[in-house]
Amino acid sequence: MREQVFINEVGLRDGLQNQPNPVSTAAKLKMAQTLLDAGVSYLEAVAFVHPKAVPQMADAVDVLAGLGPLVSQSAVEVSALVPNMKGYQRAIEHGVTSVAVVLSSTDTFNMRNLNMSLLQAKETCQQVIAQANADNIKVRAYVSGACACPYDGTTPVDVVHQLAAEMIEFGANEISIGDTIGAGNPQQINDILGPLVQQFGSECFNLHLHDTRGQALAMAWAGITQGVRRFDSSIGGLGGCPFAPGASGNVATEDLVYMLEQAGFDTGIDIQKLRSAVSAAELATGQQLGGRILQWMKSQ
Ligand code: HMG
Ligand code: MG
Repeated sequence: MREQVFINEVGLRDGLQNQPNPVSTAAKLKMAQTLLDAGVSYLEAVAFVHPKAVPQMADAVDVLAGLGPLVSQSAVEVSALVPNMKGYQRAIEHGVTSVAVVLSSTDTFNMRNLNMSLLQAKETCQQVIAQANADNIKVRAYVSGACACPYDGTTPVDVVHQLAAEMIEFGANEISIGDTIGAGNPQQINDILGPLVQQFGSECFNLHLHDTRGQALAMAWAGITQGVRRFDSSIGGLGGCPFAPGASGNVATEDLVYMLEQAGFDTGIDIQKLRSAVSAAELATGQQLGGRILQWMKSQ
């Protein structure tokens, strides 16, 4: 039997949050439907953030309402990014059972992203994680800017180790190591994950890789060699963070699925069917999208 790798599709959240033109709720739901048809089982679908900070996420409630019937007969997990207790409470009120908090590696990035110092962001994460644990809600913590901060440069590896360990201590179920601006390399992933996996095991780690400099697949493979079996990706390679200059798209779901399936892992995702999801994302954004594999598939 092939070993399973879990793909969390973040195209609806990370993929769309930085789009210059408004994306309608209907277009988001169409994207979701095609992703579900392809076998995607984990969707980070919305963010409960301030609508002025990220206008594309202002319809989070409507997206969740529309997703309800699409996932009701399945084991699909729909999660929401929540930056603080207000976001958490709104997510819970709308039936979310899995949330993600965000902690960045430097004061500057936390301030730009969340209007909080590193310490305030950490305390906020601790508060949300504790409440989620009390409510039996799955909670994961992003350690963002893990390879480099968009403002302060390369992130020292021991900072990432410390922040990840603290989030685990607070009770996070999963830690997502985020290379927000795609500035990392496979050796950095080894250096980050090696000691963490040794101390905590590989099961609780996820990699969230942006592909700005074309390193994301190589870094994902470094993660695989460290035992990580959980990855974020975004259909068509959509993605970016409004508060992280230089953050271009996430690793494309179709590229990651292709690599993993070819290497003998089971993602549960049908790569041929992802073509419709890329088309839906193209319609939603008005952009031509698609990772390298899609271009190759189209030429066959
Ligand atoms: P703030 O202005 O400091 O908030 O923003 P505040 O607590 O001072 O409150 C000000 C107003 O905002 C109040 O309303 C609050 O109720 C409201 P008023 O009384 O003035 O009417 N408010 C909220 N409204 C909606 N949702 C909320 C919320 N909280 C307070 N959750 C805040 C702080 C965090 C809200 C703001 O900075 C924000 O929304 N930031 C968005 C950050 C974001 O979405 N960034 C992108 C996602 S992170 C990312 O992409 C990286 C990642 O992909 C990993 C990687 O790539 O490495 C995850
Ligand atoms: Mg991201």
